Amino acid sequence: MEQRQHERPRVVLGVTGGIAAYKACELLRRLTESGYETRVVPTESALHFVGAATFAALSGQPVATEVWESVHEVPHVRIGQSADLVVVAPATADVLAKAAHGLADDLLTNTLLTARCPVLFVPAMHTEMWEHPATQENVATLRRRGCLVVEPAVGRLTGADSGKGRFPDPESVFELCRRALERVSAEVPADLSERHVVISAGGTREPLDPVRFLGNRSSGKQGYALARTAAARGARVTLVAANSVLPDPAGVDVVHVETAVQLREAVLKAAGDADAVVMAAAVADFRPAVYAPGKIKKRTGAEPEPLSLVRNPDILAELSTDRPRAGQIVVGFAAETDDVLANGRAKLARKRCDLLVVNEVGEKKTFGAEENEAVVLGADGSETPVPYGPKEVLSDTVWDLVALRFP
Ligand SMILES: Cc1cc2nc3c(=O)[nH]c(=O)nc-3n(C[C@H](O)[C@H](O)[C@H](O)COP(=O)(O)O)c2cc1C
Repeated sequence: MEQRQHERPRVVLGVTGGIAAYKACELLRRLTESGYETRVVPTESALHFVGAATFAALSGQPVATEVWESVHEVPHVRIGQSADLVVVAPATADVLAKAAHGLADDLLTNTLLTARCPVLFVPAMHTEMWEHPATQENVATLRRRGCLVVEPAVGRLTGADSGKGRFPDPESVFELCRRALERVSAEVPADLSERHVVISAGGTREPLDPVRFLGNRSSGKQGYALARTAAARGARVTLVAANSVLPDPAGVDVVHVETAVQLREAVLKAAGDADAVVMAAAVADFRPAVYAPGKIKKRTGAEPEPLSLVRNPDILAELSTDRPRAGQIVVGFAAETDDVLANGRAKLARKRCDLLVVNEVGEKKTFGAEENEAVVLGADGSETPVPYGPKEVLSDTVWDLVALRFP
């Protein structure tokens, strides 16, 4: 096998014949801008949607669909062998079927058989095609073999239709590619493949009336980083997102909620078959006892009514004591302003989760920032400090510790 000894990471971008092929151009631009040597291998059908000239100009590389061009260079073997990442975006139902069954009737399918690097499929198709048992079985086969198959987004499809099957935001697909390549250079395997993980993110809002709510400063960035990193490590990810303005990460099933009660319902529903649940959302402890159906008015001369609160359910404690699935790993987050470690240890004992990520919060710390610093406490007494750095680094540490605890 050819050794991969090149300075710039080599990406093969397979483009297949779906209407979303034009979005591959945006992805290609991001890949080349980032310094990756990117070679586009379109199928014949893809060229009905975007011309070879566009791919050649954007990549600075030759473009071929057949194995019969430049035969002396044996492209049907070389391109796959020397790749650091193969990403098929968009991936048609047809290419998923061919890849699952090992067909090799064009340059892309030959490349898929010769590649020994991570392979990422970004399917896009009509909902019926995606949901068909044939497609679902092909996706399951590819995932079992270690390929990353991104869940399509929900939204507008070709024509007037909408539903699941949409190509995700190209920027988030690029982000997945970048992370997959980072893991190649760090030589870390896709160790969460065939695992389902549920993550809560953001901050709940507890409405007082139709215009006001009690909320918190959580941006959702940590929970979204956990979702992105888990997806890049091959997991099937459900992200229960409370009021975050961040774009849905590629390949992640996102359930949007507003209140603590809605968040509990969505997490418990998804947790039934989950291998791990990570509660990164800032969930309000209390909510207003009464919801005013009309806007609360300021009455001249009158003092405001005191606010009366009731307790919200303690989702982390509930999940930890009554696990929806045997052997499930439960991870909590504790945001503390003082006595950080002592309060964290006490919370871990109270909640009975497996891991608790303890971080200090304050005006400029943690909330909304790109970086985080934390200590991950284990129910077994372990303490893993994570120095100040990107939220992805903390996320990967959490997944390392979760993976160690899987039964
Ligand atoms: C206008 C048009 C749009 C299409 N969009 C999709 C699509 O989004 N996803 C898909 O799986 N197939 C789509 N197809 C069908 C594929 O092009 C067809 O299955 C083709 O054989 C795929 O070949 P390939 O996988 O070699 O690229 C579309 C076909 C047409 C004519």
